[in-house]
Amino acid sequence: MNDTGTDLIPLPGALSRPSPSVGRLVLNEDTLIEAQPGTEGVARWLRSTVGAATGLPLRDGHDADHRIVLRIDPATAREVGPEGYRLIGDGHGLRIHGGSAAGVFWGAQTLRQLLGPDAFRRAPLPSKRQWSVPVLAIEDAPRFAWRGAMLDVARHFMPKGDVLAYVDLLAAHKLNVLHLHLTDDQGWRLEIKRYPRLTEVGAWRARTKVGHRASPLWDERPHGGYYTQDDMREIVAYAAERHITVVPEIDMPGHSQAAIAAYPELGNTDVIDTTSLSVWDTWGVNPNVLAPTDTTLAFYEDVLTEVLEIFPSPFVHIGGDECPKDQWRASPTAQARIAEEGLADEDELQSWFIRHFDRWLTGRGRRLVGWDEILEGGLAEGATVSSWRGYAGGIAAARAGHDVVMCPEQQVYLDHRQAAGDDEPVPIGFVRTLEDVYRFEPVPPELDAEGAERVIGTQANIWTEVMESRQRVDYQTFPRLAAFAEVAWSRLPAPEARDFAAFERRMTGHYARLDALGVDYRPPGGPRPWQRRPGVLGRPIEGAPPIV
Ligand code: ACM
Repeated sequence: MNDTGTDLIPLPGALSRPSPSVGRLVLNEDTLIEAQPGTEGVARWLRSTVGAATGLPLRDGHDADHRIVLRIDPATAREVGPEGYRLIGDGHGLRIHGGSAAGVFWGAQTLRQLLGPDAFRRAPLPSKRQWSVPVLAIEDAPRFAWRGAMLDVARHFMPKGDVLAYVDLLAAHKLNVLHLHLTDDQGWRLEIKRYPRLTEVGAWRARTKVGHRASPLWDERPHGGYYTQDDMREIVAYAAERHITVVPEIDMPGHSQAAIAAYPELGNTDVIDTTSLSVWDTWGVNPNVLAPTDTTLAFYEDVLTEVLEIFPSPFVHIGGDECPKDQWRASPTAQARIAEEGLADEDELQSWFIRHFDRWLTGRGRRLVGWDEILEGGLAEGATVSSWRGYAGGIAAARAGHDVVMCPEQQVYLDHRQAAGDDEPVPIGFVRTLEDVYRFEPVPPELDAEGAERVIGTQANIWTEVMESRQRVDYQTFPRLAAFAEVAWSRLPAPEARDFAAFERRMTGHYARLDALGVDYRPPGGPRPWQRRPGVLGRPIEGAPPIV
C-alpha cells in the first residue's frame, strides 16, 4: 500500500484525506470491532482474513478508543446506494457505514486493501510490524448491480477448495456474481439425487483433447468430478457470507451430451442410437442435443427442482447457446412437436423449449437467464439475456425491455489469449490485453437511456477447455479480472478517455496483493517460465498443429 490510499482496485468513487498531517490509524491488540446489527458476518470475515493475516484478536466491543465500527446506515443507503459504503477514519478509529450488509462488506474489502499486501496473507509474518491505515474518507458505490464472473467447471472440473478460493478472489475485487457453468457435453458436475447416473456416468470422461479442438492429441487419462449437494450448499453459503450470489447454469437443449450419455432417452433416439454416446472427449459445438419431448421437459423440471433447493439465487441460467438443429430437422418426433405447437421452424422449437422453463421458473419466483441464442426464435417473456456473441443480442433484448448482462466474447472471454506471440500457454481466441479489458464498455452507445437501464451488469467468462488446473485459470483470469472489476464497479470515463497508465500504477500495489494471496497471474512482462508453452497439461504438445 502506498501512503495515500491511492492504489485501490477497483477505483473508489471519491477519496479524500482531511489533512496529510493527520497521519495513520494504528490497528493493534486493543483494536475492537463494533459490529452493529446485521453486520456480524462482516466482522466474522474481517477476523478470518485480516485477523489471520495480522494475528490481531480484533475482539468484539465498543469501549475502546481504537475501534472499527460496522454499521448499516439508512442515510448511506439513500445517498450512496444499497451496495455503497462510506469509510471514514480519524486518529481514533474507523467507521464503515454501508447501505446494506453488502455495502459494509465492500467497505471492509477496501479496509483490507488499505492495510497493505501483507493483509492478504493467511498467517502473520514472524517479523513484528505495525498495522495501520491512512486516515481518509471514502465514499463508494458500484456502477452495476450484476458484477459477474462465469467459471466453467464442466470442461475441467475444479475441486471445491479451488472454487472457494475463487470466491475469495471475486470478493477481493468487489464482484458479486459467480455464474457456475455446471453442465456441458464434457461433464455434469452437480449431484442430482433423483438421477444418480448424471454424476455416476455424466461426471466422467475417458480422456481429454489436448489444446484446441483441431489438435490431434488426447491425454489418454480419465477426467472428472462433481459437487455433492452438500458441497454446493457449502459453496453457496460461503459465497453468500461474501455477498456473492452463485447463479447455477444447467445448459439445455444443446451442450447436453453428458446428460444424454447418462440417460439416453433424453436424446433424439429416432435420429441416432443415443445409447452409443459417451461423455464427450473433445471441444466444439456438439450435434447431440436434447429431444423436445415431454420426457425431457419432466426430467429437467426434476433437475431444476433440486437446483432451486440448493441455490437461493433469484436467477437461474438455462444456457440455450449453440444448439445445432440438424437432429430436430431429421427427427419425426421433433417435427411432430413443431406441427402440434404451430411453430414456424426449429428456432421456434428452441424458443418453445426455453419458454417452458421461463414459465416454470417464474412460477417458482425465479428468473430465467440464458445466452443470447435464446433470442432467435422469439425471446421468452421473463428472460434475461447474457449477451456473448458481441453486443447485438444485448442491444436487441434491452430494446425489447429485457434485462441484459453484457459479456461479449470479443472483450471479456478470459480464456482468450492476453498477448500475441507463441509464449501464451493458452493461445486461443482473440488477443485481449489487460488494456483492452480496461477499455471494455458494457453499455454500447447504440442504447438510449432507457435501453442502458436494462443493462443490469456485466460479466467476464472463463471457459476451461484448455485450462485443466487452478493454476491455468489463475493465469488466464489475472490480472485481467482486476481491470474487469474496475469496469464493473467504478464510474470510469468513456473507453478512450480511461487512464490506463494510472490503472497500471495502481496495479503495482495490486500485484503485491495477488502475490500475497498466491495467485499465479500473468506478470506484466509475460509468462513466467513455468507458465509458458509448451506445458499445456504439464507435457509438451509435440506434433500438435499451431493453435489458433
Ligand atoms: C458460449 O460461449 N457458448 C456462451
